[in-house]
Amino acid sequence: MTSVATLRAESTARHPLPRRFVMCRPDYFEVTYCINPWMDPAAPVDRARALLQWETLRATYEEYGHKVDVVPGVPGLPDMVFAANGGLVVGDRAMSARFTHPERAAEGPAYHNWFAQHGLAGLVDAKEINEGEGDFLLVGDRLLAGMGFRSSLAAHQEVAQHFSRPVMSLELVDPRFYHLDTVLLPLDDNTIAYFPPAFSAASQAVLSELFPDAIVATDADAAVLGLNGVSDGLNVFLSDKATALSEALRARGYNPVGIDMSELLKAGGSVKCCTLEIHE
Ligand code: ARG
Repeated sequence: MTSVATLRAESTARHPLPRRFVMCRPDYFEVTYCINPWMDPAAPVDRARALLQWETLRATYEEYGHKVDVVPGVPGLPDMVFAANGGLVVGDRAMSARFTHPERAAEGPAYHNWFAQHGLAGLVDAKEINEGEGDFLLVGDRLLAGMGFRSSLAAHQEVAQHFSRPVMSLELVDPRFYHLDTVLLPLDDNTIAYFPPAFSAASQAVLSELFPDAIVATDADAAVLGLNGVSDGLNVFLSDKATALSEALRARGYNPVGIDMSELLKAGGSVKCCTLEIHE
């Protein structure tokens, strides 16, 4: 006989789905300019260590059954490792990024060319300032979109049209959290983890209404970019420093997988920033 406890465990069981990711090896990673509060060009960066951390992340994805394609880095584009910013790919539509800062401008065409070479359907260049999955996150059928520091409201409209999907605009207010993916982590089609103080009061109200079951992250989790993670529906890949968030995830039936991303954090990025998802 099946016990009530077993039935309950089965009904809440989480289902991982194999994902397709795009990553860019940090062969040219360094911090030579400052476009967010995490970056200090005077502080040393250990590229060999960054490479090891990145290789560990990539190997971990593969170990969990996910496919990883690697985009070659470009000399002189030290932030290209943050593949999430390269664009947005959902179903039969794709859009390559248009960056806010001139230091990263050439990454848009670099990712565009790679998308084109890999046959991604419905590919266009963003006309408006659009930093890809840094600011556009798919939750179920809806896109959540960040604005305030990088991607613009006009970009949200452009994305809604090109991808024919509802886009919910959210305003970011804390410069440490300049991209949506630094403070909001989609866990599955209906659930997110997020850090409310990073959003305007109006956007906080929208999020609490849309996601009453959200996991609310602590200041300490946010301060190590713990929310900059990737979920496959069960396993949640995130910084190993996000200890309270990992516990909260476990309590809700997810499996947190901690990765040391300390070297990449010096440029203001962690797990999600290094990962562009091809949403099939
Ligand atoms: N240094 C990069 C920038 O400021 C970091 C980008 C992080 N990427 C992300 N998806 N949040 O643009």
